[in-house]
Amino acid sequence: MPRVTFVLDGERRSFDVELATLPYQHHGLPGSLLDVALGVGVPIEHACGGNCACTTCHVIVTSGAEHLSELEDDEADRLDTAWDLTPQSRLACRAVVSGDVECEIPAYTRNYVEEGGGLRLGKHA
Ligand code: FES
Repeated sequence: MPRVTFVLDGERRSFDVELATLPYQHHGLPGSLLDVALGVGVPIEHACGGNCACTTCHVIVTSGAEHLSELEDDEADRLDTAWDLTPQSRLACRAVVSGDVECEIPAYTRNYVEEGGGLRLGKHA
C-alpha cells in the first residue's frame, strides 16, 4: 500500500492509500496525486478540473519520483508555464501514484477549505 506524503507549510501529512479502493474524485487522472489528495482531504488547487490546462496543481516531488507515472509531453508543455518551476515539478492531476511518494505543495498553489462553510480561499505568495 503506497504511502503518500503531502508537505504543507513544512508540516508533513502522510496517508497509506489503497489506490484500488480510493473513491475517484473526478478531478485529474484516477490515482493521481490530485485524486489522492482530494480523497484524503488535502486541498490542492485545480482550477481546470484536473485536465492539464492550468498549473494550479503544481507540486514539487521531494522523494519517490520513480513511483509516479512518466512525465508526458502535454504535462511537460504545461509545466513550462508554471511559476517557480523546478526539476522535481509535476502537475498533481497528471502524476499517477504507484508507490511511496512525498511532495510539497507550494504556497502559491494552495487552497484552504473553511471548515463548515466550504469557502475556498486562494493563497498567493
Ligand atoms: S488542475 Fe489544471 S493542470 Fe492540473
